[in-house]
Amino acid sequence: MSQTVPPILDRAFGHPSGRLGRIGGALMARGNAATERHIVDVAALTATDIVLVLGPGPGVGLRAAAKRARHTTGVDPSEDMLRACVDRCHDLVHAGKVGVRNGSAEATGANDDAFDVVLSVNNIQLWDDLTAGLAEVHRVLRPGGRFVLSSHDKWLPVPRQALVTEVGAAGLTDVQSWTWQPPGRLATLAFQLRAAKPA
Ligand SMILES: C[S@@+](CC[C@H](N)C(=O)[O-])C[C@H]1O[C@@H](n2cnc3c(N)ncnc32)[C@H](O)[C@@H]1O
Repeated sequence: MSQTVPPILDRAFGHPSGRLGRIGGALMARGNAATERHIVDVAALTATDIVLVLGPGPGVGLRAAAKRARHTTGVDPSEDMLRACVDRCHDLVHAGKVGVRNGSAEATGANDDAFDVVLSVNNIQLWDDLTAGLAEVHRVLRPGGRFVLSSHDKWLPVPRQALVTEVGAAGLTDVQSWTWQPPGRLATLAFQLRAAKPA
């Protein structure tokens, strides 16, 4: 399901690694910060929430979530991005409020029903298997848990309505979707949704 992108862009943004990955991480930390923080607002995190952030990249959303939640885990296949997350959240890591793990949306390494909330910003277009990733989101959410997602609208892996249908087919309910324009001259339209695992 992941889209074909030029290798140089993939190394900077898609699967960040090495020097290019670190440059990409710095650009994403700036360019995507408003969306990351907006999604944390949409998720309405509380101090008791246990949160999973898929594909946190440089960790801006991971930090924003962790400041509100009880505990937040970031799962990303890029070792360079996991290091960036630890750097950005070092105080919260030391406080026991943030953990990071190598993995992917399709294989998070988490237990069943482990999280109150799963967040995903700008990575669904990179999942190798959309159906498997959504099944994993359903598996790791506790009953009543919530899923909140944002994607660059122009890079959605499938059309908007098809994504809403896939989320429902994974067993999540109360699916609501909308578009959101991040601030900034270069920012492009985001497609966002929230859904819940039946209680
Ligand atoms: C474009 S960056 C977005 C990072 C951050 N969420 C943001 O918006 O700035 C994509 C991130 O998703 C990660 N990623 C790639 N494939 C993934 C997968 N299958 N599951 C979860 N994350 C993945 C990449 O390593 C990278 O850190």
